[in-house]
Amino acid sequence: MANELWLERVQRAQEAASARRGVDVSVMRPPRNPSADGSTQRAEAVAQPVVADVVAEAEAVVAAATAVAEAEVAPAQVAVGGDAAANRVAAAKARAAAKAAANGAPAAPAEAAPKPAPSRPAPAKAAAVAEAPAEVGQAGMNRREFVTYAWAAALGLLTLEGGLATYLFMYPRFKEGQFGGKFILGPATILPPTDASPQPDTNGKFWLVNTDAGPKALYMVCTHLGCLYKWEPSNNRFECPCHGSKFSREGLYIQGPAPRSLDEFVVETEENGVVALTTDSDQGAIPPAVPSPSAEIRVNTGKRIQGRPAAESSSRDTT
Ligand code: FES
Repeated sequence: MANELWLERVQRAQEAASARRGVDVSVMRPPRNPSADGSTQRAEAVAQPVVADVVAEAEAVVAAATAVAEAEVAPAQVAVGGDAAANRVAAAKARAAAKAAANGAPAAPAEAAPKPAPSRPAPAKAAAVAEAPAEVGQAGMNRREFVTYAWAAALGLLTLEGGLATYLFMYPRFKEGQFGGKFILGPATILPPTDASPQPDTNGKFWLVNTDAGPKALYMVCTHLGCLYKWEPSNNRFECPCHGSKFSREGLYIQGPAPRSLDEFVVETEENGVVALTTDSDQGAIPPAVPSPSAEIRVNTGKRIQGRPAAESSSRDTT
């Protein structure tokens, strides 16, 4: 009983508040016994149009807000994307306005249909940038390939230079019979007797001397200051006309300002593939042996052995 009194008081308060707001809520109040008089069906029939109106109004508000937001974003898109972006924004506005009108909301102010953008010539720089990839594609080479080919070319050139340098190092710089190269004199029979005068070879710039130890090829240049000394048969020795240095038949220092004995070229003797050469030693150059008269005699003017110091010469004149 107390609950019914309290419920009755609440309903009266609600009706008073609804009257002040101008809304009749009595139709929405459930009956105390809904199944008794069918008031529930009547309340639903009255409430459905009201709910539909509210939903339509809410959709219209949302559409209008969307149109306003797109209108604010439009200038930036136009600045970035140009005429195409402006057209898309205008189309979006039109769709929003149509949707709002369909929902009963006040339509946004109509805008003029977007005018077709006048065709403007593209800047030359942009055209060049657009054509650049095509040129690269036509050339068939990108940056990575270019660097690879450049490295390969540099490596190939370096290898070629190395091979050429090796070939030039191994290849004789002087031809046969040319000073600096080898002189083939022939069989040992061409050698003068061991007591005969030395024989000059002006092309090879040496004096050919035959000794008991073997053949010698004395360099024609004086060891003092480079004059050409002469063979003096009357004294059986070499004498330099420049400063008076004197050397024995074997090229040993005798006297004069020359600091050492005469220099010698390497003599080669060969028979049946066996080669003997002039060798250097503390006692001076030692000539090769001549195995037989048929052995070939060669002088290598590219290899020179310096004479021993004048003080060590066994032919030095101490008087
Ligand atoms: Fe021969 Fe001076 S150059 S002695």
